[in-house]
Amino acid sequence: MRLDYPIMTGRLLLRPFQTSDLDDFYAYRSRPDVFRYLYGESVSREECAELLDELVKDNELTSEGQRLALAVHLPEAGRVIGSAVLKWRSESDRQGEIGYSLNPEFHGHGYATEAARKMLELGFEGLGLHRIVAECDPRNVPSWRLMERLGMRREAHFRELEIFKGEWGDLFVYALLEEEYERAQA
Ligand SMILES: CC(C)(COP(=O)(O)OP(=O)(O)OC[C@H]1O[C@@H](n2cnc3c(N)ncnc32)[C@H](O)[C@@H]1OP(=O)(O)O)[C@@H](O)C(=O)NCCC(=O)NCCS
Repeated sequence: MRLDYPIMTGRLLLRPFQTSDLDDFYAYRSRPDVFRYLYGESVSREECAELLDELVKDNELTSEGQRLALAVHLPEAGRVIGSAVLKWRSESDRQGEIGYSLNPEFHGHGYATEAARKMLELGFEGLGLHRIVAECDPRNVPSWRLMERLGMRREAHFRELEIFKGEWGDLFVYALLEEEYERAQA
């Protein structure tokens, strides 16, 4: 898939992370509330810098197993407000997965929905995927509400499938098929 950066949406620019994004990245990656329902923990500035060095490399999708992690830049604020991810799960089965995180200062404006919608477009139209999933902890209500805004269907509610942060954790799996995406576009 060929990507021309920055990728424009109505209000946002999506582009690869840069090491100079550290302040903006640290502003949300260091917050425990952002990581309440995510794997991993909030981290120090030094650890953020190391994570950012990895994210900077996630700027293309050329083979299955890779993840495209884009910085969500809000020109109006002049800063990066979060990230949007597209993982290429399987080439033969044309499967993908999206993910997203926003700095809480910028919640409630539809920015994550806008960025995630573009990741679906990249997955279906750019990569030719057949099915894209998104997963979250059922307690992460803003996350599954976002998936539903995108037209994704709840396909599964796995109960107590793992120990998550010291207690049994459930998982919602949402999905969207290529034909459902196309129908919604028409
Ligand atoms: C998941 C997450 C990105 C959702 O954030 P969010 O602000 O609810 O999502 P959006 O940016 O799409 O904004 C949607 C909200 O803005 C409102 N909104 C305002 N203007 C809007 C617009 N133009 N378009 C869409 N929604 C709009 C919506 O009504 C919605 O609010 P509501 O849920 O109270 O109805 C955020 O909670 C987050 O980053 N959490 C931490 C990381 C995380 O858990 N990520 C998910 C991993 S599975």
